[in-house]
Amino acid sequence: MVTRREAVQLGLMGVFAAAMRPVFSAGKPDEKAFADSVLETMKLRKININIGLGSSFKVVQATDSHFTYVSAEDFEKLDSKSMEWYSSRSKIFADGIPGLAAALLHAKNLNAPLFHTGDLLDFPSKANLDMIRRDLSMRNWFYSLGNHEYHGWGPGKPAIAIGRSAEERAAGRRLFAPYVPNPIPVASRVIGGVNFVQYDNSGFSDHMGHWQLDQIKKEFAKGLPVVMLCHMPFFTDKLVDQMVVTKKLVKEKINDGYLQGVPWANSWGGRKELLAWLKEQPLLKAIICGHLHGEYCVQFSKTAMQYVSDANYKGFVYEFTFS
Ligand SMILES: [Fe+2]
Ligand SMILES: [Fe+2]
Repeated sequence: MVTRREAVQLGLMGVFAAAMRPVFSAGKPDEKAFADSVLETMKLRKININIGLGSSFKVVQATDSHFTYVSAEDFEKLDSKSMEWYSSRSKIFADGIPGLAAALLHAKNLNAPLFHTGDLLDFPSKANLDMIRRDLSMRNWFYSLGNHEYHGWGPGKPAIAIGRSAEERAAGRRLFAPYVPNPIPVASRVIGGVNFVQYDNSGFSDHMGHWQLDQIKKEFAKGLPVVMLCHMPFFTDKLVDQMVVTKKLVKEKINDGYLQGVPWANSWGGRKELLAWLKEQPLLKAIICGHLHGEYCVQFSKTAMQYVSDANYKGFVYEFTFS
């Protein structure tokens, strides 16, 4: 409340400022209330994976956040067709930030790492890359490259020319390497006696395939239970049957753009070989991936289920408990 004497002293602008004072002097913002609001939008899925460990631990996974940020610098390089395309993408994926904020906060509350299995960005704009540095560089996270990270731009690929050839995929990996916490082609992290092995099956190309397979074999040779993390799911008959129903797809049209190692599709080097080899590995306990923007859970091998997580831009966050 401003007294008459104060009003004279303060003048009109001062009165406004003084009248506003109680709002800003009410103490610190209620951070917990804000945090609760972020978590309210989260669609949390909890999955238990029992692999006979002595104790249990949790990891949080999110996939397909599809950020659509562009800077003025990015925009200067867009032609009108690309602007139209950008505008439509930014509407579809408008909730990427609340999705990732919830995943990060949930992981922080659990004191667990966040695994992001790709399509973190819808396209590799400068603003999107800056976002990774700003929002994730200080976090405990682990990452698999998604297909959108390196060829997500629509018409003209104006901001950063990365596309579909082996050289362009290699350029994509080089572009992302400084922004992410682990090597992109293959990387591992041991948590609670489980070896989490991520590999890039989106920027996959002939010259990489067999090299990656050799690296993955070395990870299994460590003798620990293995959980594979990647962006694109592996082919299984059951998964295809479910996709035909849920996505209304013609079976024969499901190709390596959807899944890894589709028997009737032209596969890049090593994919089918990796799939066949993984099926025979008793140490493989689970595959966790994304890309389909839908939720599927199918048996992959005698010892492993494949968990395909729904998209983070829709609010989905996955809490895996390993025991
Ligand atoms: Fe995606
Ligand atoms: Fe994808």
